Amino acid sequence: MILIKDRGYQHPIASEITPREVFLSRRRWIQAAAAGAIAGALPAQAGVARPGKLAALAAVPSAVAGALTMDKPTPYADVTSYNNYYEFGTDKSDPAEYAGSLKPRPWSVAVEGEVRKPAVFDLEALMKLAPLEERIYRLRCVEGWSMVIPWIGFSFSELIKRVEPTANAKYVQFVTLADPKQMPGLRSGVLDWPYTEGLRLDEAMHPLALLGFGLYGEVLPNQNGAPVRMVVPWKYGFKSAKSLVKIRFVEKQPPTAWDQAAPSEYGFYSNVNPHVDHPRWSQATERRIGDGGLFAKRRPTLMFNGYEPQVGQLYAGMDLRKYF
Ligand code: MTE
Repeated sequence: MILIKDRGYQHPIASEITPREVFLSRRRWIQAAAAGAIAGALPAQAGVARPGKLAALAAVPSAVAGALTMDKPTPYADVTSYNNYYEFGTDKSDPAEYAGSLKPRPWSVAVEGEVRKPAVFDLEALMKLAPLEERIYRLRCVEGWSMVIPWIGFSFSELIKRVEPTANAKYVQFVTLADPKQMPGLRSGVLDWPYTEGLRLDEAMHPLALLGFGLYGEVLPNQNGAPVRMVVPWKYGFKSAKSLVKIRFVEKQPPTAWDQAAPSEYGFYSNVNPHVDHPRWSQATERRIGDGGLFAKRRPTLMFNGYEPQVGQLYAGMDLRKYF
């Protein structure tokens, strides 16, 4: 049990979330190790930098370990001030400004539908389903910007295993909070509330699909989807639903907030695909937030956001222009 610094809230929660300073020192160590600077000195360095945790990282399955990026994490200030969370407004600065009214505790998540063991998990129980891991993922927004964020969580598949989907479960639907008392943006009709998203069951089972509880060694700030959200790094950011309250296992492809709002612009799959333009703009390149502002050079966007070796086989044989 450690006390986690949580901007806006102070409360103890049972978790292994790494304090930010420790995260940063370990990050420096990992970068040095990657550069070969301290090769051969591993046991002693590991002891100094981060007892226990380095071993835990090394133990994650290779599909996940291979996905960790050495890209420089986006500064915390940008990660937490440039957001999409339409329940708090549509400007990038609105979530940081208005999400203080979201109450992330107490919180529970109902898991229902085609499962043998439906359950309502309170947040603390949910966080204990599996050891929390730190995973540095790139996330790309359909609007053409991206960030690199050290997330804290575990594979969503850990929850799937717990509730035992039936043979009828083909998709997972994610339903997020829609409380007008906490969320001023619900007054606008920009989306059909609640915000919903969905994945095919095999996508949801992929070890990269993360159930996220924190970032940068701290619990999730409200504007980033406190207290629990999805992080699906090979898909456009909108597939990563925030502030989850319900997870439904269903037989038919569920509607999603964005394909209901604009079906010609946002398909169900929404895999990052630089070869399929958004109807109103190209998806070939992206701007990395924190990379020197609007004048920074755009980078080429990679297929599946760079996670093709890990997830490409999920879509073998599918026409990804049709199923965009
Ligand atoms: N979840 C909810 N409930 N409401 C939203 O408006 N926006 C999505 C996604 N999840 C959104 C959401 C979009 S468009 C993006 S790009 C990511 O959250 C942004 O996550 P971030 O603000 O943590 O970077």
